[in-house]
Amino acid sequence: MKIAFCVSEAVPFAKTGGLADVAGALPQALKKTGAQTIVLMPAYEFLFSQDYKFSKVAENVTVHMNDYYYEEFDLYKAHINNTDFYFVRNPKFFDRQNLYGTPQGDYYDNDIRFAFFSRAIFEALKKIDFIPDIIHLHDYHFGLAALLLRDLKSKPAGSSAAKTKYAIFKNTKCVFTIHNIAYQGIYDPAILERAGISYDHYNMEGVEFYGRINYMKAGIVYSDAITTVSPTYSKEILTPQYGYGLDGILNKRKKDLFGIINGIDYSIWNPETDKNIAINYSENDLQGKMECKFALIEKMFGPGSTAGEIPEGRGNAASQQFNYLEKPGISKIPVAGMVSRLSEQKGIDLIVQAMESIMENDIYFIILGTGDEKYHNLLKALSKKYCSRLSLVIGYSEKMARQIYAGSDILLMPSNYEPCGLGQLISLKYGTIPVVRDTGGLSDTIIDIKTQQDIKKKGQGFKFTNYCPQEFYRALKRALEFYSNRTLWHKIMANAMRQDFSWDYSAAEYIKLYSSLMKE
Ligand code: ADP
Ligand code: GLC
Repeated sequence: MKIAFCVSEAVPFAKTGGLADVAGALPQALKKTGAQTIVLMPAYEFLFSQDYKFSKVAENVTVHMNDYYYEEFDLYKAHINNTDFYFVRNPKFFDRQNLYGTPQGDYYDNDIRFAFFSRAIFEALKKIDFIPDIIHLHDYHFGLAALLLRDLKSKPAGSSAAKTKYAIFKNTKCVFTIHNIAYQGIYDPAILERAGISYDHYNMEGVEFYGRINYMKAGIVYSDAITTVSPTYSKEILTPQYGYGLDGILNKRKKDLFGIINGIDYSIWNPETDKNIAINYSENDLQGKMECKFALIEKMFGPGSTAGEIPEGRGNAASQQFNYLEKPGISKIPVAGMVSRLSEQKGIDLIVQAMESIMENDIYFIILGTGDEKYHNLLKALSKKYCSRLSLVIGYSEKMARQIYAGSDILLMPSNYEPCGLGQLISLKYGTIPVVRDTGGLSDTIIDIKTQQDIKKKGQGFKFTNYCPQEFYRALKRALEFYSNRTLWHKIMANAMRQDFSWDYSAAEYIKLYSSLMKE
C-alpha cells in the first residue's frame, strides 16, 4: 500500500501545534505496518537553516495553475525517522517568517499559496514516480487537492487546465482528516479562476460557502473518506454548536466519516529520555519529577526573574542560587501548568475569569503560549497582578514546554472544543494530571476522578462539563484536594504514566480504512 501524506507542518521540520506532531509520527507508525508512506509539505525558508540533510530531487517543475498562468517549484527530500519527506520549494509562497500569518492575521495570499501547493502535489508525485493508493490530506490548507483529484479522474487526460496526463491517478483514493473544523480557509471566489478550477464546482454541493470558497468544504465534499481525530469530535461536528457551519454537509457524508483517536510518539515524549528536562525520571523513580518541579519553580520564580515579561531563560535563575531547600514545604505547593496556543478554542477565557479564585489557593501557575493578541494582553495584565505565583511566557519554546510538562503537578486544558488534544496525552506520560473540559478527544482520553473509587477504575484526570469558570474551578479544586493526599496522588500518577496512547492502535485503524477504500 502506497500512501502520500500532504500536510502544511510536520515534526521535526515545522510546527505550530498538534497537526505537526501527528504528521511527524503517524507516517512512521504506518510504515511499521508495512505501508510505504511519504510526506509532502511546503519548503519554508527557515527549514534550510536547520541541521537537516536535504537533497534536491527536481528543479523548475512547472505547475499550470490555469491556461495562462503557471508557477514553478524545486523539490527537496530529507530522510528522517525512517520516513521520506519531500519539500515543495517556491520562495514567493513559502519564504515567510511564519507558516500561515502573524498574530495580526493570516497572510493575504493564503488562497493562492494553498491552491498552488494543492496542484503541486500531483506534479511532485509524478516527478518522483510515486503513484499512491491513498492521498491523505490534513486540514483545510490543501482541501482543494481533493477536488483536483476528483476532476483529474473524471476528465479525459489532457483536457484539464493543468494540461497534463493524470490517468495515472485514476485508482488513487483520497482521505481528508479534519484536525480542527474552526479553521476552514474561506476566500473570494476569484480564486477559482486563478487556480484553474471550473465554476461547475461553485454551488452548494461543491466548494461554495455563503458566496465564498471554502477549502475545508472542498476536502469534505470531494474526498472518498473523511476522518477526525477522535470519536467524540466526529459526532460533535455533526451539530451546529461544533460544526462551524459545515455540520449540514458533514451530515450528508456521515457514512464516510470516521473518528480515529490520535496517539503520541513515546520516543519523543518520554520523561525517561527527554534531554530538555532537569533530570530524567520514570514511574518507578519519581524523585526526578520532584527535581524537575524545583527546577521549574526556580526558573520561573527564582531571583532575577521578572514575571510577566517574555523570552525564554527569563529570570536567569540558572546562574543565581535560588535555594528552594530553604523554603520548607515548597514541594507540597502544587504547580499548575499550561502549554497552549492562546486562542478561544483553548478556554483562555475560563482561565482569565477563574484566575482570582485560582490565586486564592497556595499554588504556582505557569503559562506558556502564543496566539491572539487579545489573550496576550489579558494574561499579561494578570501576570503583573499575581507576579509572585503566576508566570507567563508568551512565545513558542519546545524546551520550555517539556520542562512544564515534567515540572508541573497539574496541566490545565479547559478547552471550549478539542478535536483530540495532545497536551493531555503528553502530560499523562510525564505524570502531570490533566484538568480538562469534557469535550472531543479530552472526553475520549481522560478518565474522570470524582471519588477514591475512580482511582481504582484507572482514573487519571479531572473533568468538567459546562463551559463556565465556576465549573472549571470546581474541577481544579477537586484536583487540589486529591493532590493534598500524597498516597492517592501517587496512585493517580501511576494510572496516568501507565496508560498507553502510542500510535500502533490508531495506525491499524487508518490501514483498515485505507484498505476498505482500495477495495471499492
Ligand atoms: P493544538 O494542535 O490544537 O494546538 P494539541 O494539544 O493537539 O493542540 O497540540 C499542541 C502541541 O503543540 C503540543 O505538542 C504542545 O506541546 C505544543 N505547543 C503548544 N503551544 C506551545 C508553545 N507555546 N510552545 C511549545 N509547544 C507548544
Ligand atoms: C488540532 C486540534 C487538536 C488536535 C491536533 C492534532 O490542532 O486542535 O485537538 O490534537 O489538531 O490532530
